[in-house]
Amino acid sequence: MTMNEKLIFTNKTGEELDRFIGDLGNPRTIIITDNNVEAEVFPALGPASGVVRTSPKIVIPAGDDNKTLDTLATVWKALSEMEAVRKTVVVNIGGGVVTDLGGFAAATYMRGMRCVNVPTTLLAAVDASVGGKTGINFNGFKNQVGVFSEPVATIISSEFFSTLPDEEILSGYGEMLKHGLLESADAIGRLLAINPLQDISLLLQLICDSVSVKARVVAEDLRESGARKLLNLGHTFGHAFESYSYERNSPAAHGYAVVWGLVCELVLSHMRLGFPSELLYKVKNYVREYYGAFAITCNDYPALIRAMRHDKKNPEADSINCTLLRAPGVGVTDEVVSEDEIKSTLDIYRDLML
Ligand code: GLY
Repeated sequence: MTMNEKLIFTNKTGEELDRFIGDLGNPRTIIITDNNVEAEVFPALGPASGVVRTSPKIVIPAGDDNKTLDTLATVWKALSEMEAVRKTVVVNIGGGVVTDLGGFAAATYMRGMRCVNVPTTLLAAVDASVGGKTGINFNGFKNQVGVFSEPVATIISSEFFSTLPDEEILSGYGEMLKHGLLESADAIGRLLAINPLQDISLLLQLICDSVSVKARVVAEDLRESGARKLLNLGHTFGHAFESYSYERNSPAAHGYAVVWGLVCELVLSHMRLGFPSELLYKVKNYVREYYGAFAITCNDYPALIRAMRHDKKNPEADSINCTLLRAPGVGVTDEVVSEDEIKSTLDIYRDLML
């Protein structure tokens, strides 16, 4: 099975975008982006792309706080005022907020237009822009409303990463570590062997490998009824760390929360399924060195467990599910975990990380 979404890896984004739109027969295009990307990326991208120079732009305010119904309504309104029709192609240029919200706007306006994603952050390149999850935050919950709708293409490059803060690169790299663990011992070994902040020239090939892991899983199960749950590795604990970090008013970047979650879920994988301790230690050492640790005491356990119970990955309100690994490349989904196991895991996480 293949994805409907075409993946284009290039460090000549502007030219590839023009070529792809040309291959579609040069339909009318409208760009959705945010104010940061407009300032940081467009000065370099514009000269390389007629599509970028000539298409009308809908510029939303940057930041996850703006991934809202209000922003979506302004995008629908702008599409309507620009007289977009179903054949018009939306080009989402930005990070995950732009590709999620822009993808949702395109999927719903006139019952669905085509869109092309041009991710400008590492996190969007390896995760959000690929695989057709679109949506907005709603009623206090992340990504609460949305649809599965694949872009016709995603054009992936490492061209724009020099404008990103280190924290953004490491955050995206966290999802790549997850893909590496899901793939094989070699794949995770290659990722643990480099410093992503220094070895930027190696990134495009590693991104290509990483996205291929996700693409294979999505091709099997777009709507997350089975295999796609593998991609939740690290995310049961990770989402809990992330939402608790917001509660504590010191927000952690998504990929940081994911790597701390990976350490916990590899501990659990070792205890339950015999995941090799040597690799667990290698991952833990890498995470400690580059990401530090999320500081917790046992007084934080009830809040973390509460956050896990609220996670939309859990099909039953009273169970907590994880994706775990028997070994690199051998994942197991829907592992129901008890509160006692979560507490023991957090005890070991603290011993290893703090
Ligand atoms: N971020 C995980 C997925 O797309 O399913």
